[in-house]
Amino acid sequence: MARNLNKRRPERIDSGFESRNLALGVLLKIEAHDGYANLVLPSELRRFPLEARNAAFVTELVYGTLRKRLFYDKVIESAASRKIGKIDRTPLNILRITAHQLLTLQTPPHAAVDSAVRLVVRNKSGSASGFVNAISRRISEKSESTWIDNLSEGLNELEKLSLEYAHPQWIVEKYLERLGDMESVKRELAANNVNPRTTGVIYPGHQWSRQSLSNSQESHWSSSCRYLEGNPEQFEEIRNAHGGVQDQGSFLVAQALSLAASSEDGPEDGPKVGIWVDLCAGPGGKAALLSRWAGHSSANFLALEISEHRAGLLTRMTDQVVIADSLKAPIRPGSTSVILLDAPCSGLGALRRRPDARHRKKPEELADLADLQRKLMKAAVELLSAGGILGYVTCSPVGEETTMNRDWLLEQEKNLELLDARKYMPKNMELAENFDIQLWPGLHGTDAMYLALFRKKPSAAIG
Ligand SMILES: C[S@@+](CC[C@H](N)C(=O)[O-])C[C@H]1O[C@@H](n2cnc3c(N)ncnc32)[C@H](O)[C@@H]1O
Repeated sequence: MARNLNKRRPERIDSGFESRNLALGVLLKIEAHDGYANLVLPSELRRFPLEARNAAFVTELVYGTLRKRLFYDKVIESAASRKIGKIDRTPLNILRITAHQLLTLQTPPHAAVDSAVRLVVRNKSGSASGFVNAISRRISEKSESTWIDNLSEGLNELEKLSLEYAHPQWIVEKYLERLGDMESVKRELAANNVNPRTTGVIYPGHQWSRQSLSNSQESHWSSSCRYLEGNPEQFEEIRNAHGGVQDQGSFLVAQALSLAASSEDGPEDGPKVGIWVDLCAGPGGKAALLSRWAGHSSANFLALEISEHRAGLLTRMTDQVVIADSLKAPIRPGSTSVILLDAPCSGLGALRRRPDARHRKKPEELADLADLQRKLMKAAVELLSAGGILGYVTCSPVGEETTMNRDWLLEQEKNLELLDARKYMPKNMELAENFDIQLWPGLHGTDAMYLALFRKKPSAAIG
């Protein structure tokens, strides 16, 4: 029977392929403009809206490929017998996405290889289709663990971890310096390769509604924090700015400072004398909490921030915002009872959140960051009243930004003492036998936040 050629079938959109193509576009854009994945990806998803399921697939492809790029590049180099630098950008990124599908997502080889070749054609790199086809097939011939075994031959233990967990070796070394044993390092590197759960925090003075409670899950460390699925804006507390999306580690360190301020460790005349100051406050996650806790103690609160843009974001959290350099804070020395110094840092504690950060950070940046952190610490101590408390926080587990700064400050400032911050953390939390706190994604399920609480000795004790 003759076919009716006039009756056109509706065109079928292959959403899997379109998602892969969008992910490739995002990766190319990030590479060409040295863009940040957490900015480029959402902006492309706004430009090309997809169903939630497909948007999640694009996110997995982009974040997963970026996270494990170091490993995938070694696989590609081996399969192609060619250095990465000798492969054009488009076929290279197609191969990276394909390696992620084959080795991590367990996509059936025919589907991953077929879409790799179609991506070459769609992106006008037709001449590379034979190459991409052959290399994709070669990648698919071994499992992830076999590739790791093969590529690890002749490597020392640190080099192996760097390859297997796709972290630059200097980061592995920094982790080992702080953690002290390989098993813990492996646990933490593995945790950096997994998406964190979205956590919502209810701000002090507010409560999660019954509906929000039933649509979210209890978190590990605080009833104020809930694990949220889907778009956080669906929760009225987030929409109304009665709460915000925030890592539990951030919440816990801010809470510890506030609890210490109201305890026997707190300022001698009570937390309400003087003001509470957040010295590096933008974009304001911790300021949203501290401003309210200060209010409960009838203390005034002030948020300082050097960046105008970030100060603008802060005004959604508190109206007590000053754009200022905290090295020259417009505050009378000795007048501040509680200070949060959440210092600018490498962000190496939030690698699971920022998949491209591990490639971007350089070890030589640590010295400049530590120098700035120490200057800010000194400036903070100047502002503290006798008996006042300083919470020094970084989102980093690196010695230069944490314990080494702690020791340096205590050496410099003989009128400071280190408080036992563990008293102000959840009771069931596994913490090292130190007064300061280091959280870890693998161990605690939080970002790797660091907290040291210092107290300026009460006036009578200063000799
Ligand atoms: C780690 S972030 C703070 C995050 C913030 N506490 C929160 O919870 O949302 C560090 C902030 O310090 C700001 N900053 C850097 N140098 C500063 C300075 N000298 N004075 C004031 N703010 C500074 C940065 O612009 C950045 O917003």
